Order: sequence, then structure tokens, then C-alpha cells
Amino acid sequence: MIKEYISANEQRYLDELFELLRIPSVSADSTKKSDVRKAAEFIKDKLAAAGVNKVELCETPGHPIVYAEKIIDPKLPTVLVYGHYDVQPPDPLDLWHSPPFEPVVKDGKIYARGSCDDKGQVYMHVKAFEALMKHNAMTCNVKFMIEGEEEVGSEHLGIFVASNKEKLKADVILISDTAIISLDTPSITVGLRGLSYMEVEVTGPNRDLHSGVYGGAVANPINILSKMIASMHDENGHITIPGFYNKVVELSAADRKAMNEAPFNIESYKKELNIDDVHGEKDYTTLERTGIRPTLDVNGIWGGYTGEGAKTVLPSKAYAKISMRLVPNQDNTEITELFTKHFQAIAPKSVKVKVTALHGGQAAVTPTDSKAFQAASDAFLEVWGKRPIPTRDGGSIPIVALFKKELGLDTVLMGFGLDSDAIHSPNEHYGIKNFMLGIETITSFYKHYSKA
Ligand code: BES
Ligand code: MN
Ligand code: MN
Repeated sequence: MIKEYISANEQRYLDELFELLRIPSVSADSTKKSDVRKAAEFIKDKLAAAGVNKVELCETPGHPIVYAEKIIDPKLPTVLVYGHYDVQPPDPLDLWHSPPFEPVVKDGKIYARGSCDDKGQVYMHVKAFEALMKHNAMTCNVKFMIEGEEEVGSEHLGIFVASNKEKLKADVILISDTAIISLDTPSITVGLRGLSYMEVEVTGPNRDLHSGVYGGAVANPINILSKMIASMHDENGHITIPGFYNKVVELSAADRKAMNEAPFNIESYKKELNIDDVHGEKDYTTLERTGIRPTLDVNGIWGGYTGEGAKTVLPSKAYAKISMRLVPNQDNTEITELFTKHFQAIAPKSVKVKVTALHGGQAAVTPTDSKAFQAASDAFLEVWGKRPIPTRDGGSIPIVALFKKELGLDTVLMGFGLDSDAIHSPNEHYGIKNFMLGIETITSFYKHYSKA
């Protein structure tokens, strides 16, 4: 039986996953280019061993895309599995309790960069496929497209998808790169936010100045930038960029009520983050603030003297990286323009500003009335004993909207992480239970999907 096969192979699955986790495939770090490729080769080899008919590394000007397929019968439906083998930079390193690329198990969780986002979740798909092939139980066609640039904006994947429509022909996209509510409460993500990510540069005088000789008479770009950033939220937590909310879809009272019925404990949320209070837009709950409302956040800010001790300096430049999470119907290129115009408009004459768009993407909502969603829901019911709750996640997977636009395909976001898995943070981890149940749930998905 498939279930028994999966549990009998747990140790081998984990050993293999650990090997993948040991490869520091940080897509943002140009010195790790060959490691990123190593991770691609690893996935390719494991897919080949699991029994695909064809697997290749598709080269791009950036990192390669692993593409594979198993065509059981062209008349059967085809599932296109998407995931990413690249990971976020592990910094700050000193906050890790064990090295980020030396996976260890503690309390049933695998600690390593990428364990949850997304290597652990990609590997569930490879092993689910292997288990089905071993039992001659793969009852539909499957294609795999595992990329290496998700964490840096999927620039080349967009081009690859648009120019390989025939190759990627499928009936549905399946992605495990999101979270469930908890091990007791499975859920399927039905909404993701979009993103517009900017870098700003504020320049005051042409060189760093003595803050005593010039201070008070010349604009300090850090002071100015702080004030500009602070002005972008009003006292109710609304974003002040003109036109920012124009296209935001307001949910009906009934939809908001339904969304707030999902299990959520604000006290444990605060406790887990060690905060005494939450923060955000007035009149919205925490679930709404991350699920259906757009945001603006500074991701990093720098300039001036940050070394040891004190240096009296009035800096010439200040910088910030600012991201906006977007909701359905907001267009990221339009928001990028609105931000740019506004940022220039609020800059005083005493400074010059430069605004650069780094990357972005559209929000996505996925249907809950499709055959594939039903199959995913049935799979959770079979393996977890409970129907999954539909949820809207705050993160972004810009490629989901692109799949719809370029390939006309809907996505099922069947992820198995937890919000507390610390993705993108020090000590990222992934539950072995999530990993094992995920493998089983994926095999069950194929079974239900091909029966439908
Ligand atoms: N897997 C995440 C997105 C995610 C996480 C969705 C949790 C839902 C729940 C993905 O790898 C990611 O980090 N995406 C980036 C966007 C990208 C353009 C850099 C993000 O959300 O910041
Ligand atoms: Mn991810
Ligand atoms: Mn990520």
C-alpha cells in the first residue's frame, strides 16, 4: 500500500531532503551561482530516478528551471506541479541556533534554510510521485516545473512560461508553497497578495558633512526620508498615496464574517511574536489585515554612520527598501507608478530623490468550485480526517497570476507549512509530520483528481 510505503521510507526521504538542504542555493547571492545549479541538478536526478519520461534543465540568463514530465496517457488530465528550489539568504547568521545549511532535527522539526520554503515542500512532490510510480498508481499525467529564482522575483520564469505554452499544456497547476492553519486545522490557500517592491535614494548635500558645522542648516536625508516614510500612513493606518485604494475590492460583510470564523487565537499570536499588541489598519481584524488588505512596509533602511561608537556626520545619502503588498484588482505596475509620483511629490526641495522598482507581481484568488480544488479538499479529508478551510495568505507567489494570464490555468495552493515555521527568518523549520502527511495528501490528490 502507498501509505505503508511512504512511512516505511521516512528515513530515506529525510536523508535525501537533508542532502538537498545542505546545498546553499541562495538565488540572491551571485557567489552561490554554482550551488543554485547543484540544487537544480539534485532535483533533476531525483525526478529521473522516480520515473519521469523526460527531465531537463532549461537554461535561462539567470538560474536554470528544472522541467520534467510523466505522460501516462495523453487522453488523461495533466497536473503541472510548480515549486522553487532556491532559498532566501540565511542572514543574520548569528541568530541561528544551528548552521542554516546543516539540517538538524529538534522536537520533530527539521531546522534549515529552505526546509519549509520551499525545498521541503517541493521534495514532498518528488516523493509522492515516486510512491505512486512504485505502485503503478499514477493515474494522470504530471509535469514538473521547479524554478531557481522565486525568491528574487521569477524574472526568467515569466519569459519561459510565455514562450513554452505548448510544453506546459496542462489542466491545473498544483503548488505546495503556502501554509495550513495548524496540524489540527488543515486549510487550503485561496488568495495570495501581490507585491510592488521599491528602492528609494534620498540625496542631500554632495558629500557627508560635519554635523556641527552644517547641522541645522542643510537637509539631513535620513531625517527627511524618515519623515517621508512616516507620512505614508495616517493615524488610522491607511496608506496616504493618492489613488492607492482606488481598485481595492471590498469584501461583503458575509465574506468577511466567513473569513473571521477561521480558528485564530490572537493571544497565542502575540505570545509567539513576543508583542504586547498587534498593529494595523483600523476596523480590520488581524486575519483581514494580512489576508485582504494592502500594506506598505519598510524592509530595510540605511545611510550615515552605523559603525562602532559615535561619528558626528550629516550624511549625504539615505536609502530604504519599501514593499507594498497588494490585493486582488490592484495592478502592481500602476501602484509602482503611484508610489513613484507620490514619493517625488512629497520630497522637499532641499533633497533629490531617486525611485527604482525592484520587482512585483499581481495578487491571486483561486477558485473553490473546480474539480481540482475538490480533489485537494477530498485528499485532506482522507488523510487528515477533516475538510480543509479556505484561507487567504498574506504572502505572494506572483507566478500564480501569470499562470492564469499566460496559460489560462487555475492553481490549487496545497501548502503544508505553518506560519510559525519562520520562513525567511533565522531558524526556519518544517515539521516532519507536515512533510510526511504532505506526501500522503499529494498522492491522495492525484487519486481523487483523476477519478473526478
Ligand atoms: N512561499 C512564499 C510565499 C508565501 C509564504 C505565500 C507563506 C503564502 C504563505 C514565497 O517563497 C515568497 O517568499 N514570496 C515572496 C515574493 C517574491 C516575489 C520574492 C514574498 O511573499 O515576499
Ligand atoms: Mn516559497
Ligand atoms: Mn519565500
